[in-house]
Amino acid sequence: MKRIVILISGRGSNMQAIVERCAAEGWAAQVVAVLSNRPDAAGLAFAAARGIATAVVDHRAHASRAAFDDALATAIDAFAPDLVVLAGFMRILGTPYVRRYAGRLLNIHPSLLPMFPGLHTHRRALEAGCKVTGATVHFVTPELDHGPIVMQSAVPVRPGDDEAALAARVLATEHVIYPQSVRWFVEGRLVLDGGRVRQTDGASQSLI
Ligand code: GRF
Repeated sequence: MKRIVILISGRGSNMQAIVERCAAEGWAAQVVAVLSNRPDAAGLAFAAARGIATAVVDHRAHASRAAFDDALATAIDAFAPDLVVLAGFMRILGTPYVRRYAGRLLNIHPSLLPMFPGLHTHRRALEAGCKVTGATVHFVTPELDHGPIVMQSAVPVRPGDDEAALAARVLATEHVIYPQSVRWFVEGRLVLDGGRVRQTDGASQSLI
């Protein structure tokens, strides 16, 4: 059984999608903990109701960035994860920790990376007049929203879209590509090769 720890900061809908697909499809894996940096993260209630351990490491309760990083690392390590999944986790993990978990740390970002790293991706896609946008699952590296790409989804930008409409269209695809990517990791079907990720069965790594 692979042990998965998921980090959230809010709603946790991607976390929920992963927990549900893991159970429904009987992966050889278990989500052993859901951690949040915010005590009011809505996703914590879902996890607790599923009998998943939850913990809060509140960044505001730590005097320095380094102290928060240490506390978070300790909390994660307590669950001895094989994989750490960032799902709407709005803090940047410290570089030493990212290095230690290299190849075992996934993130989802709501844009077609390397376009629009950082915040407000949907607003920026609309402002740029993009006709297509999407989401990216990638291995985490010390550089924010970079790192080897596991899977991407593409969705159209429609005339009249606002940020909320576009976010909802992208989010629906996130709930497909993130569980799929985690499943591939659990099954050992992802190979990191020269900064690129190959799915060993040749399965499509795009959802269009
Ligand atoms: C998602 O759009 C994800 O791509 C981004 O933050 C959002 C989190 O949503 N990193 P949720 O908490 O999974 O519902």
